[in-house]
Amino acid sequence: MKLLVIGAGGREHALAWKLLKSSRTTRPMTVYVAPGNAGTALEEGLENLPITGIPELVEFAKKESIVFTVVGPEAPLAEGIVDAFRAASLKIFGPTRQAARLETSKDFAKAFMQRHGIPTATHTTFDSAAEAHRYLDEKGAPIVIKADGLAAGKGVVVAMTPAEAHAAIDTLMAENNAQLGNAAARVVIEEFLEGDEVSFIVMADGHHVLPLATSQDHKRLKEGDQGPNTGGMGAYSPAPLITPTLHARIMREIIQPAMNGMAQEGERYTGFLYAGLMIMADGGIKVLEFNCRMGDPEAEVIILRLKSNFITLIEHAIGGSLDKIEAEWDRRTALSVVMVAKGYPDAPRKGDVIHGLRELEGAETAEKDFFVFHAGTALGGENGEEIVTAGGRVLCVTALADSVKMAQRRAYEIAGQIHFDGCQMRRDIGHRAINHRK
Ligand code: AMP
Ligand code: GLY
Repeated sequence: MKLLVIGAGGREHALAWKLLKSSRTTRPMTVYVAPGNAGTALEEGLENLPITGIPELVEFAKKESIVFTVVGPEAPLAEGIVDAFRAASLKIFGPTRQAARLETSKDFAKAFMQRHGIPTATHTTFDSAAEAHRYLDEKGAPIVIKADGLAAGKGVVVAMTPAEAHAAIDTLMAENNAQLGNAAARVVIEEFLEGDEVSFIVMADGHHVLPLATSQDHKRLKEGDQGPNTGGMGAYSPAPLITPTLHARIMREIIQPAMNGMAQEGERYTGFLYAGLMIMADGGIKVLEFNCRMGDPEAEVIILRLKSNFITLIEHAIGGSLDKIEAEWDRRTALSVVMVAKGYPDAPRKGDVIHGLRELEGAETAEKDFFVFHAGTALGGENGEEIVTAGGRVLCVTALADSVKMAQRRAYEIAGQIHFDGCQMRRDIGHRAINHRK
């Protein structure tokens, strides 16, 4: 059996690793990862594929009789990889390009939520910087400014003062913002929400949804949730905040209306759907954003807790029968700590040699209570066999234990055995869950 995972991060390492472990026969299985990282290159049964063009991936999947493909990141979804695979009668799990607009256009997502009564922060969209500035003068701060398009986590500014808000408009809408390209030609300005953030991720087959385990991530670079926003510095699952009652409300107030809304608009949603939610002090639930993929590092903690066969889950998701199965979860807590490169998130340095990984392999296999997922890593160094940093988020050290505190201790114990120059990591991942317990 041959499967294909699209992407190169920690999330994709976790997806591919779990698919491989879900093999139902003794016959050899290969999970290709395009393009993958050093972690997926080194693992027996996983194979990196240095292809990123969609026509080439379609051709590869046909030629190699790939049974199904799972898409990790949003960029290929925005380019229409699901549409292209389906047009070639290839099985793939992800949303179509149109459906992915829930993530790829904040303006579309906000208007969609309004059309279908899904609670979210009130907003206004602007094409003109002058009008945006005028609006900010009226509204004051705190206020939130978002680039309309995909901005790789760099498109949102939570401005606590009017000066920060005006500066955000100037930076985002600057004609030649090299980092954002066209993503911020339009901006959405929205009401500032205060509360607890949770990540709620489901699998959808166009008709049914299967909720995955709940999780929370830490987005800020620095301890105490300070400093710039990042893609995520760590996460844990489950999110203790999500009681069974809240879970049912999220399904009823957010997820079902979103699925029904997409169906009504003629674009049934298939794939992972990630709702970034704010649980407000008054008990209200509001959507901060939709993502058309799993979160990263949420995927790593969720996957480590998944006890069901992942191949079977994906097959049901592609076949439209998610109502026929349930997912089973390890009762323990999974917690992940992301080790990031010097200079992250603005200008991560690449090429630093990572030490300690190979020494951990024995314990990883024997004890099974942690796994080091690779993100921005590559094979390099002097002989081409060393593992070196190759991106901002480098490794996602994920541990399982009976409590958040114990999972935290274990994750840091493992992370402490890995070294590279300039490594940054937060020392307090999980603090919100630990305080919640108190
Ligand atoms: P987004 O990409 O829209 O999820 O925004 C990134 C982060 O900015 C979120 O995870 C929140 O921490 C924060 N954020 C986004 N929208 C708001 C809002 N309306 N109020 C407060 N914080 C927000
Ligand atoms: N960890 C947040 C995200 O994947 O968007």
